[in-house]
Formats: sequence, C-alpha cells, structure tokens
Amino acid sequence: MFSVNLRKPCNWFPDISHPAPLGELTNGPLLVYSKTFWNPRVDTPDMTNNFDGLRVVSFESRRADEMEKLIERYGGLPLVAPSMAETPLSEAGEAIAFARQLITGEFDIVVFLTGVGANSLKDAVATQLPAAQFIEALNKTTVVARGPKAASALRKMGVEPHLVAGEPNTSRALLTAMDGKQSLEGKRIAIQEYGAPNKELLKSLQQRGANVTPVPTYRWTLPDDLTPLRTAIQEIVNGRVDISLFTSAPQIRNLLQVANEMGLEEKLRNAFRRIVIASIGPACSDAIHECGLAVDHEPDTTRMGNLVGDAARLSAFLLRRKRTAVENGVDTNHWQRVDMRWPGDQSRPIRDPSPDARRSTFLKACRGEATDYTPIWLMRQAGRFQRAYRQLRSKVSFLELCKTPELSAEVTLMAVETLAVDAAIIFADILLILEPIGVDISFDKGEGPRIGNPVRNAREIDRLRDLNPGSLQFVYDAVQMTRRALAPEVALIGFAGAPFTVASYAVEGGGSRNYQNTKSLIYRDPGAWHALMERLVSATTAYLNRQIDAGADALQLFDSWVGCLSPEDYREFVLPHMRTLIGGINDSTPVIHFGTGNPALLPLQKEAGGNVIGLDWRVDLAQEWEKLGYDLGVQGNLDPVALFAPPREIRKRAKSILEKAEGRPGHIFNLGHGILPGTPVDHVLELVDAVHELSRK
Ligand code: CP3
Repeated sequence: MFSVNLRKPCNWFPDISHPAPLGELTNGPLLVYSKTFWNPRVDTPDMTNNFDGLRVVSFESRRADEMEKLIERYGGLPLVAPSMAETPLSEAGEAIAFARQLITGEFDIVVFLTGVGANSLKDAVATQLPAAQFIEALNKTTVVARGPKAASALRKMGVEPHLVAGEPNTSRALLTAMDGKQSLEGKRIAIQEYGAPNKELLKSLQQRGANVTPVPTYRWTLPDDLTPLRTAIQEIVNGRVDISLFTSAPQIRNLLQVANEMGLEEKLRNAFRRIVIASIGPACSDAIHECGLAVDHEPDTTRMGNLVGDAARLSAFLLRRKRTAVENGVDTNHWQRVDMRWPGDQSRPIRDPSPDARRSTFLKACRGEATDYTPIWLMRQAGRFQRAYRQLRSKVSFLELCKTPELSAEVTLMAVETLAVDAAIIFADILLILEPIGVDISFDKGEGPRIGNPVRNAREIDRLRDLNPGSLQFVYDAVQMTRRALAPEVALIGFAGAPFTVASYAVEGGGSRNYQNTKSLIYRDPGAWHALMERLVSATTAYLNRQIDAGADALQLFDSWVGCLSPEDYREFVLPHMRTLIGGINDSTPVIHFGTGNPALLPLQKEAGGNVIGLDWRVDLAQEWEKLGYDLGVQGNLDPVALFAPPREIRKRAKSILEKAEGRPGHIFNLGHGILPGTPVDHVLELVDAVHELSRK
C-alpha cells in the first residue's frame, strides 16, 4: 500500500473495536523475548494502529527486520520467526556442468525462476569459469524470467531476457507465457531451480514434449537456530497468536515439519482454525492449501507492504469472521467463503427489520436516517480490476459465473470483504433477464454483450415470452447464499436493469452510440414500444420481488443509458413504466434509481420514484441535491476515472464531495458509474478509507 493506512474503526467491525483475543487468550502474562520475538512495545503514537494490538506472527527470513517494523507500524505485536535458511549447494558441481553444456550449445531455452537463484548460479559458475563466457552463452540462447526479480537480476549481469512472465508470477503464468511464444516440443530447456525442485513445472514442460534439465542452485533448509520458530509454534498452540503472515511457499512446510518434530503438528493445525492466515500470493496460497489449511486473505499484488497493510486493515473483521465460524462448528481449515454462518443470520427481509438491518449504515442512509459516517459502495465493485476475479474468469465464462450461485456469491463476498465497503451488490448482470423471455445473449471475449436475435418491430416483440421468474432461480440462490455468509451489518443490494436500458440492448443487439434502432422504434411504432416496456416491467417486478424474498435488503435499478433521451421523450416513453415498476416493488425495500448522462432527467426520475437517486460526475452534488429536495437520498458523483489519479488527489476529491453533501442524512458515496477495468486496487482502498475517515462524526 502506498501510505500508512489511517482508517479509523467504523461499524463494519462492531464487535471487535478492541480486538483483544477472545476467551482464554486474554489470560496469562505476555512473554517478553529478545529481538525479533514478541515485542509489546508499540511506540507509534502518531499513527492509528490498525492491528490494534493484535498478535501477529510472520515466518519471513531474509527481510525479518523489515517485517517486524512493518507489523509494528501497523500497530501489531510482532513475532517474527525466520523459518528458512538459504544453503548454497556445497559443491558448485551441477552449476558448472550446466554452464559447460550451455557454452557448447546444448540448450535452446534457459528459465530463471528467481533473482537470488540467478545470482547464486552466476556466482557458482564464476568459481571455475570466466563469467563473460557464461553471459555470452546465455545471450545466445532464449532466456526466460518468471518475474520481475529474476528479470532484473539477469539485466544486471548483462542478459536481456527474451520473455518475462506476467503477474502473478506463478509456474502457471510462466507456462502460459511460454506457450504463447513457441511450441516447446523437442526443445532442450534448463530450469534454474530454487529451494525445493518444482516438480509440477518440470512435469508440465515434459508433457509439452520438452527435454528438461533442472539446475539446482541453492536449497531452502531450516535455519540453524530453530528457537524462534519453536517459540512461535508454542505461542500459536497456546492460543496466543491472532494473525499469521506467510511470505513464501516453503514457510508452511517448514513450520509443519518443525511442529511435527516437536510432537505438536496436530495441535498447531487445530490452533490455526482460530488464527487469520494471510498469504502473500498465489504460489504461497497453493502451498498452504496443499498442507490442509485455508487462506483467509491474499492481497491483490504480491508485495510485503500490501500483505501487512491489508491484513492490518481487515484484521478485526477477518478474526471475528473466523472465530464466529469456529463457534458455529465450521471447519475453518477447509472452508469456503460461502460456508460462513453468522448467528441468527437467516436471510432477513427489511420488512421486519432485525437489529442487524437497523444497524446497517447503508440502509439507514437509504431510509434518510442520520449515520455515524457516510456509507460507501462502488458500482462494479466485483470485476476485472481485481486479480482474484480475473483468475476465476480464466477458468469459467462470465455467464457460467453468473449462473453458478456458489461462484456468484463468492465473487460478491470477495469484493465486499477485500474493499471493506458498506454494501454488497449481488454479482449478476442486467441482461440475464432477457434469456428466459426469448432474447439470446452472449458475452464474447473483449467485447461487450451481444444479442443474437434483436427485437426491432411489433412482430418480434409479440413473440417474446412472459418471464417465468423461476428461470432465474440461480440469482435468488446466490442472494440467499450471500446474505447468509455476509457480515450482518453489511447490506446486500439486489438489482435489475431499468426497462429502457434493457430494451435498448434488446433492440440494438448490443451497446450503442446513438440508439438509432431504439429511438426509431419509439417514433415509428409507439404502441410496440409501450408493449415492450410493459413486458419488461412485469418481468422485472417479479424478478426483483423474488430477490427481496431471497434476502436482498435494498434494490438498485440501472438505467445506465436513459440519458440519451430528451425530457419530453422520457416523460412519455419511460416515466410511466418506471412508476409502475417501482410501485410494484414489495414492502418498504429501499430503491436506488440510477441513471447517467442527462441532469435534465433528474427531476423526472424523482417523479418516477425511488428512495435514492444516482448522480453522475457531470453535475454538482450540492446544487442538484438542493434542487431535488432533501427528502430524496443521493448516491454517486465521483468520476470513475478519478480513481486513476494519485491517492492524494483521490482523497481531495472524496473530501470535496463529502463537503458538498454536508453530512446530511441520505448521502451514499459511490462513483458516478462503474469502476473501470485497470483501476489500481490500492486506489480503491484509499477511496474507501478516505470516505470513512473524513466523514466520521
Ligand atoms: O456492480 C457489481 O459489482 C455487480 C455486478 C454487475 C455486473 N454488471 C457485472 C458484469 C452489475 C450491477 C452489472 C450491471 C450492468 N450490466 C449494467 C449497468 C451498469 C453499468 O455499468 O451501466 C450494464 C449496462 C450491463 C451490461 C453489461 N454487462 C456490459 C455493457 C458488459 C460489458 C462491459 C464490461 O465491463 O466488460 C457486461 C459484462 C459484465 N457485467 C462484466 C461484469 C463484471 C464483465 C464480464 C467479464 O468480462 O468478466
């Protein structure tokens, strides 16, 4: 993370405002050890301590000192127990043999996995051969680097890699990059190994018909002095650790090995059920999963600062979630996010507000009640800007994701839990409703949505089917699953496209610039247009009411493209239908009425209905809210592109919007439209923190 996170606790984490470890953990004196052990000294008076005194264990070796300082800086009590030592292979024999083969042209491709490994290989070779000869030979072959560290080490020694694999720098990313370049069939490949041999990579390359030679350079072993690691194991087993940070894959294996030698492996595994496990990245997480434990958080980018910053920011929540799960009998060593069960957590329709529903800051704002701080959520808060989302999408198509309730729930929860926003929005799409009424939709790679059979005239509109609301059961299931697993004070938003915007896709066949087909239909055959709108209104009403039944606490209607209409056309061709739709929504579920692009429509949208109205960035929030009247809530206003600005600028712009809202009840912070792919995750976190912090009363 780019700056020290000054997030003050907000009621997102109501039960652990002083997150002293629970139960038996609070008893007993805190042991005081010498350097790199428990260090109860927290002398950072000028900073808000995010770990807030929680006990944080790390197994980092090379950067142990830096890690200790980081944990302290974020207000944690560090216990840094180095778990690995790098032992150069006693004989440089294998390295020399490799260098000789390289020089005689026996390899087509050399793969470097790590920077440290590349350097130690060079050093080992240099003990017996001229370095220049080795470098020259490397430059004659195809050199591949698994990530930026290996690439940078190679450049320093005068070798420009031909290929650098991209994030997340795993073996899989490496293979994908190599596959993209050339066939590996029959290629002679040398792989610089690091630590333990990477069997999976070797096998995958062999399966591609390559002839692979591993070149070991150094091995990860246990450190000479095992005292810190043994102490850490004792502390964990005794329930005196809250958060654990893993910064490389071998750490978990070494930890379990030492625990096993101490006769404490089972106890250690059990203790981890109540401890938050944060992992620096995918390779490390894979190792933890392979060892039979579950990862609670992985930052979006594999940097130590991000790991500690994120873990600090989310620590109270993650700890409360894990310990609540354990108390509910969930096996947290093998759980999925959707396994979470909060006590008394049945889906809770707002008609009968439970204490938790009343506590939701977001729902209070929807109802125009005063709140302790301004709630924030972000349109498209789950999506391609997040690495975990992209990873999931590399395995399943967008429609499959939407239609698999467990996955949809997982993505919904992931977004809200990593960003710490005040509301979740169910992961789905406004176009899903079209399929069951007879309009084919598809989402092709890199393009927007496509409609196979656009509806452009009365005959085609007539052929549409009435919605059988049961055909969208997967959405209601996802709502129910998400509501159960979601922290009780976080609201769940259900949604649908507003009929104009959905109709515009059905008529145009996809996205559009001028809405020529849609407007032509309106002008040419208003009767057919109204018939289309009526069908969509009745389908959407049923769909939304089923989402409420499944547990949605509030609803948003996306009328993203309605701004292309003139006020007269809106009044005649859209407003009556919106009024019918909003009037048909059950009970007192709050409705957010969202549109973009045309401030002249705002008073008409108010007339159509809704508790909260969306404002994009083209309007001045203060002026527009005054005109609309304070009986209506407002949401939005920040330009999504502002999230590409430096963090300082983001904070400034958030402040300006908060000032315009003057802390009035009914203000919900959001962007004027959805988060764009490519938005830096750190910047999104900065926005969420800034809004919570600056608005707190
Ligand atoms: O906000 C959320 O996090 C919930 C999920 C959500 C999606 N779409 C997921 C999605 C919501 C609320 C929507 C609404 C939606 N869908 C709108 C209205 C909001 C807006 O942005 O105006 C519209 C117009 C659509 C139609 C749609 N779906 C388009 C134009 C696209 C392609 C554009 C793009 O971003 O790729 C989609 C696909 C889509 N819907 C994606 C996501 C995460 C991207 C799919 C992917 O490639 O993974």
